[in-house]
Amino acid sequence: MPDVSSPGPPAAKPVALVTGGGTGIGRAIGVALARDGYDLAIASRSAAHLGDGAAVLRAAGARVLEVPTDVRVPEQVDRMVETIRREYGRLDVLVNNAAGNFLAPAEKISPNGWRAVVGIVLDGTFFCSRAALPLLRESRAPSIVNIIASYAWMAGPGTAHSAAAKAGVLALTRTLAVEWARYGIRVNAVAPGPVRTDGTDHQLWVSEAVVAAVRDGVPLGRFGTPEEIAESVRFLVGPRASYITGQVLAVDGGQWLGKGVMDLLAAAFPSEPKGG
Ligand SMILES: NC(=O)c1ccc[n+]([C@@H]2O[C@H](COP(=O)([O-])OP(=O)(O)OC[C@H]3O[C@@H](n4cnc5c(N)ncnc54)[C@H](OP(=O)(O)O)[C@@H]3O)[C@@H](O)[C@H]2O)c1
Repeated sequence: MPDVSSPGPPAAKPVALVTGGGTGIGRAIGVALARDGYDLAIASRSAAHLGDGAAVLRAAGARVLEVPTDVRVPEQVDRMVETIRREYGRLDVLVNNAAGNFLAPAEKISPNGWRAVVGIVLDGTFFCSRAALPLLRESRAPSIVNIIASYAWMAGPGTAHSAAAKAGVLALTRTLAVEWARYGIRVNAVAPGPVRTDGTDHQLWVSEAVVAAVRDGVPLGRFGTPEEIAESVRFLVGPRASYITGQVLAVDGGQWLGKGVMDLLAAAFPSEPKGG
């Protein structure tokens, strides 16, 4: 009898792990990578999210491993990577996309609320990166992409927990890019602008007034789509980005630039049509 628990030879196709890959932006990233020939592992807490997402990803042509995982719990994260080793025998790309968020003034964020967001975003990104390192080191083109937000370097009024956590992930991105360059691992970040997903419609874009105010703050005058974010991840993990590491790519319609230091153009030429 062969030992069914021992891993076989590594899978022929490259493998990408997307945390939070069953929903929203993570799922769109999975679809883009599936079309580029990756097999996938997706990890999050809810079996329903994973099952629904996996169906979409399989339709895009990938083999998909669903790994129920809470990224805040190091033992679960270790088990997740062990499952990937057993099933695929390799890991080439890690996308740290899982996040939690909610709108609240800083003084109303409870210690538990703070720990929940920082735990998923910052601890989760570190635990997953650390656990994935041995498998990534065996890849010929290993890469990590961390999904952050522009308030990592700006300000995030209403989301102090998430802004602080994403700032930590940005520092981690740059630090690991330097430390793990010796293993050939590139580490970059993508900062999406506002994107409507089931998750953020519930957590952030809580009313039409909020949606309109956010949209008006984007120079391109609209929300982005999950697919537009996914394209940037696809680029960063691919061969055309082989000399890019430690960078953050804002995919946000110009949102973080806003009106610049001041809207001098509008003040000087008030009759000119507005952009957007
Ligand atoms: N949408 C935007 O406007 C926007 C803007 C800037 C940045 N981003 C970033 O983009 C990424 C994706 O966001 P999204 O809009 O696609 O939201 P989303 O659909 O709510 O995605 C969040 C994902 O994280 C997973 N997750 C939450 N807690 C987890 C935990 N403890 N362990 C493992 N997985 C967990 C969720 O799955 P389970 O519930 O199954 O655990 C879900 O799949 C996030 O990093 C977010 O911060 C989004």
